[in-house]
Amino acid sequence: MIMVIRSQIFAVLVSVLVWLLLGCSLSYASQEDIDCLRSIKDSLQDTLGYLNSSWNFDNTTEGFICRFTGIDCWHPDENRVLNIRLADMGLKGVFPQGIAKCKSITGLDLSSNKLYGPIPSNISQIIRYVTSLDLSSNNFSGEIPPALANCSFLNILKLDYNSLTGSIPPVLSLLNRIKTFSVSNNLLSGPIPYFNVSLTAEDFAHNPGLCGKPLDPCQSTSKGPKTGIIAGAAVAGVTVAAIGVAIGMFFYYRRVSVMRKKKDDDPEGNKWAKSLKGDKGIKASLSNTSMSDLS
Ligand SMILES: *[C@@H]1O[C@H](CO)[C@@H](O)[C@H](O)[C@H]1NC(C)=O
Ligand SMILES: *[C@@H]1O[C@H](CO)[C@@H](O)[C@H](O)[C@H]1NC(C)=O
Ligand SMILES: *[C@@H]1O[C@H](CO)[C@@H](O)[C@H](O)[C@H]1NC(C)=O
Ligand SMILES: *[C@@H]1O[C@H](CO)[C@@H](O)[C@H](O)[C@H]1NC(C)=O
Ligand SMILES: *[C@@H]1O[C@H](CO)[C@@H](O)[C@H](O)[C@H]1NC(C)=O
Ligand SMILES: *[C@@H]1O[C@H](CO)[C@@H](O)[C@H](O)[C@H]1NC(C)=O
Repeated sequence: MIMVIRSQIFAVLVSVLVWLLLGCSLSYASQEDIDCLRSIKDSLQDTLGYLNSSWNFDNTTEGFICRFTGIDCWHPDENRVLNIRLADMGLKGVFPQGIAKCKSITGLDLSSNKLYGPIPSNISQIIRYVTSLDLSSNNFSGEIPPALANCSFLNILKLDYNSLTGSIPPVLSLLNRIKTFSVSNNLLSGPIPYFNVSLTAEDFAHNPGLCGKPLDPCQSTSKGPKTGIIAGAAVAGVTVAAIGVAIGMFFYYRRVSVMRKKKDDDPEGNKWAKSLKGDKGIKASLSNTSMSDLS
C-alpha cells in the first residue's frame, strides 16, 4: 500500500518536473519557433507552392505562425508550435533538421511527400517530446535509427511505405507507450522485437525478410549445430570406409604378391612386398606365416 502511494507520488513529481522543464524552455522559445518554421520552408522544395502561399514571415504579429498551413500552436496568440502537420504537400528534400528549434512540438506528420535520405541518427535530439511521428509514404532510406527508443513519449510511430533497410532495432521495445507502430512496405529484414501492445501482421507486411510475431517464426538457430552433426557423421563415415578399403587393399595386394612370388618367383614383382617386410618386422613375420599357410 505504502509502496503504491509512494510510486504514485513519484509519478506525479516526475510529470510536474517534465512540465516545468518543458514550460521553461517554451517561455523563451517564440523566436526559435519562428526560426524553426523558416528553416523548414528554406530547406524543403515546395513543389506545389503550399508553403510559399501560406508561410509568410513578413507580418510578425504575435501568433502569426499559428495561422500557417499545417501549424497548430499551444495557444492561437502565441508563437509556440504544438503540431506540424504537412502531409501530402508535395514537399521534396531530406529530413528538415531545423525542426529541432520547435522545442515544444508533440506531433510531426510529414507523410505522403517526396522526402528521401536517412532518418537522422540523432532524431531523439530533434524531436524529443513527440507523441506522434508519421514519416510514412516518402522515400526515406537507410536503417531505422535506434535513437527513436529515446523518444520515450511516442504513442504513434508510422514509417510504412519507405525504402528503409536493415532490421528493426531491438531497443524499440523500450517504447512502452506505443499504441500504433507500422513499418510495412519497406526493405526490412530480421526478427521483430517485442512490443508491449498487440500489433498485426499488416503493420509489418511487404518487407523482404521480417520474421517473428506477428509474422511467421524466425528459422530456428539450432539448424547450424544439426547440420554440423550431420557433416561430422558424414566425414566419420567416409573416414571409416576409407580405412576399411585401405585395410582390404593391403591384404589383397599382399596376397597377390605372395601368390606371384610362389608361382613365378619373380623378384622384380615383389619389390613392394619386400620393402614392406624390410620396414616392418612384425608384418614381415605375419606375411611369412601366411606364406606358409598358403603353401
Ligand atoms: C510564391 O508566391 C508568390 C505570390 O505569393 C509568387 O509570386 C511566386 O512566384 C511564388 N513562388 C514560387 C516558387 O512558387
Ligand atoms: C498582420 O496580421 C494580423 C492578423 O492576421 C492583421 O490583423 C494585421 O493587420 C496584419 N498586419 C499587417 C501590417 O499586415
Ligand atoms: C543532428 O546531427 C546533425 C548532423 O548529422 C547536426 O547537424 C544537428 O545539429 C544535430 N541536431 C541536434 C539537435 O543535435
Ligand atoms: C528511393 O530511394 C532509393 C535509394 O535511396 C532509390 O534507389 C529509389 O529510386 C528512390 N525511389 C523513388 C521513387 O524516388
Ligand atoms: C539515448 O539515451 C541514452 C540514455 O540517456 C544515451 O546514452 C544515448 O546516447 C541516447 N542516444 C541518442 C542517439 O541520443
Ligand atoms: C505493458 O502494458 C501494460 C498496460 O498497457 C502495463 O500495465 C505494463 O506495465 C506494460 N509492461 C511493460 C513491461 O512495459
